[in-house]
Amino acid sequence: MATDDAGVPDWEALRAAARQVVGRAYAPYSGFPVGAAALADDGRVVVGCNVENAAYGVTLCAECSLVSALVTGGGGRLVAFTCVDGAGELLMPCGRCRQLLWEHGGPGLLVDSPRGVVPMTEVLPDAFGAPDLARDLTDRPAHRPAHRPAHRPADRPAPEA
Ligand code: THU
Repeated sequence: MATDDAGVPDWEALRAAARQVVGRAYAPYSGFPVGAAALADDGRVVVGCNVENAAYGVTLCAECSLVSALVTGGGGRLVAFTCVDGAGELLMPCGRCRQLLWEHGGPGLLVDSPRGVVPMTEVLPDAFGAPDLARDLTDRPAHRPAHRPAHRPADRPAPEA
């Protein structure tokens, strides 16, 4: 169990889970193992570690593994999240991973930070998310070009506006 009787996250249990899974990280290129653990809304604890690749950019961050574990383990929402480095010290998620956490935890996800436990709204302010995709753009003509030009070779001039 990673909550107390009142449903408050047991942060020490989550940090312990992150420190355990950091030992499974595959980080031969950076030498920087990362472990992450989170509490899901059904009480599950999900974990992840970074998985690097010889093609460096293909690397999966620990948070990617954690989100995959959440989804493959049955889905749900993240409610509390922590991340540590190889020394077991607290680590904040990179920018891309903040977006991943936003998708699966939303504004109320609690994140372990050097400033204490903070909500995602402080970790990723003014976040882009699913509601932005649903927004009706017809009232914002300035943001929608009337004519989206097809691909044009660089040496051919643009047609007269
Ligand atoms: N890394 C993570 O796993 N999560 C983060 O939020 C920051 C960075 C990993 C990616 C890479 O394997 C190593 O840390 C060094 O950047």
